[in-house]
Amino acid sequence: GVTPKIAPSMLSSDFANLASEAKRMLDFGADWLHMDIMDGHFVPNLTIGAPVIESLRKHTKAYLDCHLMVTNPIDYVEPLGKAGASGFTFHVEISKDNWQELIQRIKSKGMRPGVALKPGTPIEEVYPLVDSENPVEMVLVMTVEPGFGGQKFMPEMMDKVRVLRKKYPSLDIEVDGGLGPSTIDMAASAGANCIVAGSSVFGAPEPAAAISLMRNSVLE
Ligand code: DX5
Ligand code: ZN
Repeated sequence: GVTPKIAPSMLSSDFANLASEAKRMLDFGADWLHMDIMDGHFVPNLTIGAPVIESLRKHTKAYLDCHLMVTNPIDYVEPLGKAGASGFTFHVEISKDNWQELIQRIKSKGMRPGVALKPGTPIEEVYPLVDSENPVEMVLVMTVEPGFGGQKFMPEMMDKVRVLRKKYPSLDIEVDGGLGPSTIDMAASAGANCIVAGSSVFGAPEPAAAISLMRNSVLE
């Protein structure tokens, strides 16, 4: 069965104090740490890469759920594997031809492969990657346009989550963008079990309460 994973997005953290921000979130009950890797090309923003993952890894054993918003994910496999990344989720929009090799390489570096899709991309596009003999182990349904934290949740994306959950009862389905106490019920009832939340958790008066509220919503 699927278990809830609450993954604060470290994009909303103070990057100058990343280790203590990570520890704070884990103490608040986070299951995973969501790491947004952007290249300033696939999305109009630039964040962190393998060197920062490597630095953070020295401070925590936590599952580092890396979301690759980059045009050439294959170039990141080896460095991120060495750096100690746990999950490696690439975007389906740029990996149309070489996804089999990409998944293979991600697994060979000891990471867990996932595929993400932007709001404008039909859900059918990820089916071959889940049905493959060497499948991705998670699908990330973006609920905002990738690139920035703090945007508004797109409820119409829940149709994708519902269809996916019906087709794949035990798949990890992650949602990312605009999730928080006020939107979690829509995502959880549609069937999402991995919940990324940046601004809502970091901006909460009590992040631990926000995290536990979201976990309970997934469990219901
Ligand atoms: C957006 C990133 C998200 C982002 C979510 O491109 O993929 O992970 O940090 O932030 P919130 O939860 O604030 O929408
Ligand atoms: Zn993300």
